[in-house]
Parts: sequence; C-alpha cells; structure tokens
Amino acid sequence: MSTPDSPRPPWDGRRIVLGVTGGIAAYKSIHLARRLTRLGAEVDVVLTRAAERFVTPLTFEGVTGRAVLTDLFSVEGAARHILLGREADAVCVAPATADFLARAAQGRADDLLTTTLLVARAPVLLCPAMNDRMWAHPQVQANADHCRAALGYELLGPDTGPLAVGEADGPGRLVEPDVVVDHLGRLLSPAGPLDGVPLLVTSGPTREALDPVRYLGNRSSGRMGFALAEAAWRRGARVTVVSGPTNRPEPTGVEVVRLESAREMAREVEARIGQVRVAIFAAAVADYRPALEPTSNKRKRDGNDWTVEFVQNPDIAATAIPGLADGGVAVGFALETEDLVDHAREKLRRKGFDLVVANPANEEGAGFEAPTNRVTLVTEGEAEALPTLPKEEVAERILDRVEGLLEARAHADSAADS
Ligand code: CTP
Repeated sequence: MSTPDSPRPPWDGRRIVLGVTGGIAAYKSIHLARRLTRLGAEVDVVLTRAAERFVTPLTFEGVTGRAVLTDLFSVEGAARHILLGREADAVCVAPATADFLARAAQGRADDLLTTTLLVARAPVLLCPAMNDRMWAHPQVQANADHCRAALGYELLGPDTGPLAVGEADGPGRLVEPDVVVDHLGRLLSPAGPLDGVPLLVTSGPTREALDPVRYLGNRSSGRMGFALAEAAWRRGARVTVVSGPTNRPEPTGVEVVRLESAREMAREVEARIGQVRVAIFAAAVADYRPALEPTSNKRKRDGNDWTVEFVQNPDIAATAIPGLADGGVAVGFALETEDLVDHAREKLRRKGFDLVVANPANEEGAGFEAPTNRVTLVTEGEAEALPTLPKEEVAERILDRVEGLLEARAHADSAADS
C-alpha cells in the first residue's frame, strides 16, 4: 500500500475483538492489529495462554494503544468478557489453531477468548493456521465444518504456501493479514442495495501495440478502478474487473480479467454487459490506436523517421450502456482540463451515464498517478464537489451514490407496479 492507512469506513470507529491463539503465525497478527487500528477500529486483543508463548501483550498494546486481555480469572477479565462480547462489531480469530477450532466447535468456555465468543452476537471470522497434515485431519475438518455450517462463523483460509515445518503442499498457512482486513471490512459493511448485485468495473490503462516491444499507453495506475471493485465487493456486490496492465495488488474477492488493448476490453465488456446491473467505466481507454496491425518483428532503426497514423478506437462505454440490464446504473469518469461540470454533463448525455465522476487533470493531489483525487459527482440535475480524498474513500462516496440510484430505481419500479 503506497499511502498510509487513515481512518475510513467501514472500519472507522468499530469495535473489533481480535483473538490470537498459539501458533507460529501469531506474529502476523501484530500487523493485522496495527492495520485495523490505523483504519480507525478499536481493537481489543485477547491472547490465549498458548499465544503468549509466541507474542507478548506488550507488543499488541503498543500497536493498538489499548489494554490486552489474557486471563478470564482476573477481576478485570471476568467482567470484560461479557462487555467485549456484547460491544463487538466483529470477532476475528487469527491464527485459529486446531485446538481452538475444537474448543469453538464444542462451545467450550474455558478461557477468555472462547467465553467472549459465546457472548458475542456479531459476525465471527476464523482464520485457521496449522501444519498442513493437521488441517487435513478429518476431525479438524469436521470441527471447521461445524463452525461454518452450524454456528455461522466465516472461515477464511488456510492458504497454501511455506509453513514453519511441513511439506507445505497442502493448505495450512495463515491468510495474509491484509486479506483478513479486507474480509473484516466486508463483515462490518451493512447489507445494502448492492448486496448480491452483479457489477462490472473497467480499470487501468490500455496499451496499443506498435510492434512486439513498443506500445502507446497512458499514466493510469488502475488504483481508482481497483478501489471501486474492492469497495463494491465489501458491500456484497458480485464484482468483475476488466483491467488493462497494472502492477497494483489485485482487489480481494473480485474476478479480475486482464487484457491489453481497447479492442480486447471492448470485447470483454460487450460479452458481460447483459448480465450486470451496475457498470462503472473507470478505465483510461486509448482513444486512438496505430492504423496498422502491430508488426511481428521489432522495428529496427533504419535511418528514416517513423510516421504512425492513428485510427479511432471503439467507445466502450457508449457502445455497452444500451445493453445494460433494465434498471441498471452506468457510471463514467471524465478527466478534464477546463469547464469541468459542463464537459462532464455533456459526456453523461452523449454516452448514457447516470453519474459522471469528473476530475481536473494536471492538478496536485488529483488524477492518474496520485493516491488521492478531487472529484465532482455530476448527474443530470446536480454537481457535488468533494474535497481531496484518498481514492479508496472516493470509491465509497461513488458507491453511496450508486446505491442511491439503485434504490430510486427500485422505488420507481414498485410505484409503477402498484
Ligand atoms: N471511455 C470508454 N471508451 C473509450 C473512451 C472512453 O469507455 N474509448 C469511457 C471512460 O472509461 C470514461 C468515459 O468514457 O468513463 C469518459 O472518458 P474520456 O476519455 O474522458 O472521454 P472521451 O469520450 O474520450 O472524451 P475526450 O477524451 O474527448 O475528453
């Protein structure tokens, strides 16, 4: 992540109980506690006795700024498990050992963490981590299944990868803490109008090849599109991103279709548009491509100038939007150097968008390569200028509007039916 985390929805101000049990992966939970705290959550860490052999309460107190609890049989502990459990917005156990899964499955109350689990009514996320042979044992699998199916806990992982000891050809590794943060974000997001909605995002730059090594591209990083995709997934949408080349980390929970050229992107969008209800066109599509198909050999320096003729690429949004399912919502972007709102509204009408996210080009803190953006949300009737915000937060504001539009459509439909 290239910008430091700052408090933002859905983590900001939320109470998270982070249980840490006794496995070598416990050290990764320090990063997890730190990130959740930086995202604004109040993180109450509960360590089991075995966890204290691997990590210390002091470390967690250092990163969360809050007291760490370990003992049920202390004056503090006895009262706190009730409070912790009642006040939690989410409970996460990472790593969850085989022993902890067994105790959770049985509903045991033999330490502060299991007792808190019994009191809590908030969503629970368990992140198992253990030796791969232990995870494969039928009793461990039965305990995990029981936690999932009968108790309604969400299980995340384990991943396959290097383990402390073991062949590591099967799953056993703790899911990366940043992915745990993402899943907690999803559990903390209330189900709203995007829940279950199929949603498509175009993202990143496109590349128009001249020969096997050269292309015409642009400076889009793909950050805005990926932030939108991930935020939509957190709100329950079923998300596909059609993405040009980018080296940004892939958004969690999202299908990513990778491609290069505008024509490839147009084909992918065309094939999918009929099945989606929300389409967000965040890609910086090359408007032109070289008129000649790329040569199969690299062009050599031959002492002559090289003149390239360009032809127009398809307008992906304008072509796709008429194919959007009935009651669907289309969102576009407009990068402008002048008359921001007027030009954005012209694009809204010309291409059939319901909302255009307009941003000024060549401005500090906005545009392609910046981690922040200063946008104006333009609809037919109004233009709302937002302050400069991290792109992740801009994504939340855009999705608030998308949810508003979906709700308005639903009301209009039910009024028409009655
Ligand atoms: N867009 C698209 N396909 C294109 C060009 C643009 O889908 N070939 C989409 C973008 O993803 C964006 C919106 O259309 O959501 C506006 O893009 P922009 O480049 O600002 O619009 P243009 O129509 O290219 O207008 P201009 O470059 O002349 O400002």
